[in-house]
Amino acid sequence: MTAAVAEPELDPREELTTLVAALRVHAELCRESGATGLEAYRAPPENRSKTSEQSVAADARESSAAGTGVGPRTDVSASRANDPGEQDREASARRLEMLRVEVSTCTRCRLSETRTQTVFARGTGSSGLCFVGEGPGADEDAQGFPFVGKAGQLLDRMIEAMGFARDEVYVANIVKCRPPNNRKPEPDEVAACRPYLVEQLELLKPKAIVALGATALEGLCGISGGITRLRGTWRLYRGTVAVMPTFHPAYLLRTPSAKKEVWLDLQEVVRHLGRSIPGRK
Ligand code: URA
Repeated sequence: MTAAVAEPELDPREELTTLVAALRVHAELCRESGATGLEAYRAPPENRSKTSEQSVAADARESSAAGTGVGPRTDVSASRANDPGEQDREASARRLEMLRVEVSTCTRCRLSETRTQTVFARGTGSSGLCFVGEGPGADEDAQGFPFVGKAGQLLDRMIEAMGFARDEVYVANIVKCRPPNNRKPEPDEVAACRPYLVEQLELLKPKAIVALGATALEGLCGISGGITRLRGTWRLYRGTVAVMPTFHPAYLLRTPSAKKEVWLDLQEVVRHLGRSIPGRK
């Protein structure tokens, strides 16, 4: 992809790793869509463009048609109960809720001593897209949800510009408790919290993760180094899930000129998910 910043020199081994990651992501996308080449990036399945509200509205129409006998006489809830995909999703949602409750009393690290409450996640992740940030700030600590402050409002605008409803993406953080004075989480705090995020992602099975900032990228992929150099290049989480590193929204609030790079990265994610940017063909 073309970025407005000068291309940094890449170490050949790192370049090879990046290429392999990109190829794996591409192969996975082709396998999922049954495609054999680049058409996988160009042909979004029609139903993927539904927003969660549209899906809910469609579900509601189906159920009311079934309930009133106006529509075809299908027992929607019975067919759902027999749908293994739907059963898996329900089981995952139940386990995620149990995990949220478990996390709410966590004392695995010192951050539990200063938090107001834990901050687990927001959104359903039904779109296959997750965003991962660093850790809760003051607003998130007060409200119990990630990215609800100024940086969160900017993230919401980015999500909307990508063509997603706020609720259909999943948003979480590397650590679930606010580090005092918004300092970076320490490595032992990240390590103590990591199993929770690993399980969340295991249950959600996202198709792509956006790593917001260097701490998120390191926590997800174990890759450190400047985010300015690492952003915009696909990486892999646990060898399977595509990760796009980009700048953190809090950085964008301080450096609005970096928004154009983030927009390039996010468009790449939209393409990877087989969707199109709103207002473009
Ligand atoms: N910054 C983060 O990294 N996460 C939040 O939830 C809020 C701000």
